[in-house]
Amino acid sequence: MAHTITLLHGDGIGPEVTGAVVAIIESTGVKIDWDSQLMGAEAIAVHGDPLPDEVLDSIIRNKVALKGPVTTPVGKGFQSVNVRLRKALDLYANLRPVRSLPNVPSRYENIDLIIVRENTEGLYSGIEHEIIPGVVESIKIITEKASMRIARFAFEYAQAHNRGLVTAVHKANIMKLSDGLFLRCCQDVAKEYPAIKTNDRIIDNLCMQLVTNPNQFQVLVLENLYGDIVSDLAAGLVGGLGVVAGANHGEKGSVFEAVHGSAPDIAGQNKANPTALLQSAVLMLHHIGEGDAATRVYNALVNVLERGIRTRDLGGEASTSAFTNAICEAIQRG
Ligand code: NAI
Repeated sequence: MAHTITLLHGDGIGPEVTGAVVAIIESTGVKIDWDSQLMGAEAIAVHGDPLPDEVLDSIIRNKVALKGPVTTPVGKGFQSVNVRLRKALDLYANLRPVRSLPNVPSRYENIDLIIVRENTEGLYSGIEHEIIPGVVESIKIITEKASMRIARFAFEYAQAHNRGLVTAVHKANIMKLSDGLFLRCCQDVAKEYPAIKTNDRIIDNLCMQLVTNPNQFQVLVLENLYGDIVSDLAAGLVGGLGVVAGANHGEKGSVFEAVHGSAPDIAGQNKANPTALLQSAVLMLHHIGEGDAATRVYNALVNVLERGIRTRDLGGEASTSAFTNAICEAIQRG
């Protein structure tokens, strides 16, 4: 049976990396009907909106989307379509598995860390105003409902993937009400999972410990802003944004996307590294019940990297298409 999945090419290097990933998935033999939709600047030209209703309807219908990066104008123009998409579909859990890959230059080996970021509130609630000229206020919203559900997501993930420790990250010593509530919710949910150990870290201490001794952690659960920053920090432990997967989950659907942006500096030059989106696609294949194909894709990626075939951002010479072809061939060889 074919799976129907929404495909959002995005812009910049988006079409190159999504094209690569679609070709690699095709080489596994898994049948997917791609429901392609426009998003970002291209969608403005056709629909007058960077995030047209067609995109949301398609994801709600199909429940799963594979998404390339979309450019967001800085300081002017339209609101981030990524933030709008997360809000519109209530994609409350951002999952980033951070795992070392062979032949990818990085400070550590054997990193295997899961980051669970609350995706809908905190300082990203977008409630900002000027009180008087020269004084602005940005409001951090933390709710019991959102904190409980992200904590539950983290513990459920830990339970399903045999992870024995969940660490709640906060700054409750200073933000006693907001981060205090987040921490209390994590501690309350932890009581429902007695087989999983739990502890907590203050955000600044966590950052220091992540760069000095990252393997002491297994699953981190964080509110929105800390999650955003820490997940990029953790990506830096395994070779950077070009290799780390991301998935956004909610009740209405799941959107699988790379962590990096649209990289306008290398767009259209056949230089982009598709690894991050490919790792997201591995998560997606597991999610749709194609675990065997997911394992074959991951093993082929590892095999190609072990043979020293790497894109330029990782210190290699391979173009996007050469790297993609090598992975397709590795899958077909088995
Ligand atoms: P970026 O991640 O696009 O690029 C940062 C640097 O990393 C650049 O030098 C780029 O060439 C390199 N890079 C990124 N991905 C790469 C890949 N797959 N292969 C090889 N090199 C890669 O970050 P930047 O420049 O801050 O953002 C560019 C645009 O992307 C902005 O408009 C931003 O808003 C948007 N963006 C979109 C995201 C999304 O759609 N999920 C996420 C992050 C940024």
